[in-house]
Amino acid sequence: MYDFDTIIDHNSWASEKWSEVREVMGPDSEDVVALSVADMEFKTAPEIIEALHRAADTGIFGYEHCTDAYYEALQTWMSKHHQWDIKRDWVSVTDGVMTGVFTGLRAVTHPGDAVIIQRPVYYPFTNAAVRNGLTILDNELVLNAQGHYEMDFEDLDLKASNPRCTAMVLCNPHNPVGRVWSVEELGRVAQICIKHGVTILADEIHADFAYDGHQVTMLSTLGEEVAAHCMEFTAPSKTFNLAGLITSNAVISNPELKQRFDIAADNVAGLSVNHFGLVACQAAYEHGEQWLQELRKYLAGNLEVLRSFAASQQGISLIEPEGTYLAWLDCRGLGMDSDELRDFMRNKARVFFDEGSLFGDSGKGFERVNLACPKAMLEQVCSGIANAVKELG
Ligand SMILES: Cc1ncc(COP(=O)(O)O)c(C=O)c1O
Repeated sequence: MYDFDTIIDHNSWASEKWSEVREVMGPDSEDVVALSVADMEFKTAPEIIEALHRAADTGIFGYEHCTDAYYEALQTWMSKHHQWDIKRDWVSVTDGVMTGVFTGLRAVTHPGDAVIIQRPVYYPFTNAAVRNGLTILDNELVLNAQGHYEMDFEDLDLKASNPRCTAMVLCNPHNPVGRVWSVEELGRVAQICIKHGVTILADEIHADFAYDGHQVTMLSTLGEEVAAHCMEFTAPSKTFNLAGLITSNAVISNPELKQRFDIAADNVAGLSVNHFGLVACQAAYEHGEQWLQELRKYLAGNLEVLRSFAASQQGISLIEPEGTYLAWLDCRGLGMDSDELRDFMRNKARVFFDEGSLFGDSGKGFERVNLACPKAMLEQVCSGIANAVKELG
């Protein structure tokens, strides 16, 4: 019913992803395919586009507040898709999930404190920590012999016991390694953080993408005690390709933490909402389900393309993702350092990924592939890499 195959001319909108390619690679980059920044090469659901048209037609764009209908759409979606019953007064609408994470860190830490992150991880977590004057404690993920990333709980316990450690930023599901953390894993994280008085900031922006056989657990659904120690950040922006509309939700059930969050937001001019962002997010949660179902199937097809490609290559293997629309390619077998790998991908294979080293030292030798693109684009990328590998001899 929905079209995910059409390749949209990327010059038709001011895409950050494609303009970075032009900036970095110059005018001769027209043949380079960008599968880097985590937004999609698909138009959003037509139901959302229609809602935005109707909103534009009102012609009234003054200051707004969130309507009951907005909250109800959010609550209904979370309840149906994530068995998560949230109350309206737990929610603060933020202009982006990272704004939520930045604000949350300001709310629960002081400069000089330490924060746990789990590298290789979405690199703005590092910025959020550093810019809030925090020391990073890296509870590095461990890649086991089966090519599966796991948490190192012993190390987590040690890091959380550091008296300066006041917060942990958890990526659930995890960008870039694609893990959908199990109930058991989340339970252990929560237990350790509660024991040491560490507040968990759970970034759950990718929660709507789990492949068959996996189920995302929103952290606070583990129970009241866990909920009391965490802040959660969610949005339909990844799910429906709405990141440019800058509308997300911080969900905090502990009234004291919620108050600290709102005060931290107020201290930097408060939170304001965007007319089109609210309209799009509401429409997504009210009418986007079928589009998402089809998209998930399409992404599973793209994953299969990448899987077969990786299986046919020496020196490249796929870390099997359980969720997100991102895939993590282990290219260490090509025997290149980070500079050589970047040069190889960009100049020989003609593809622009988010290179693994961006996500921390433990990401060196990996590439993050964005699967949210028409299949033909992904196939072009795979054959570009295959040809470049052949030329290596
Ligand atoms: C884990 C994670 N958190 C946050 C973001 C960014 O969210 P926002 O643009 O709403 O700040 C991304 C985008 O890729 C992401 O992958």
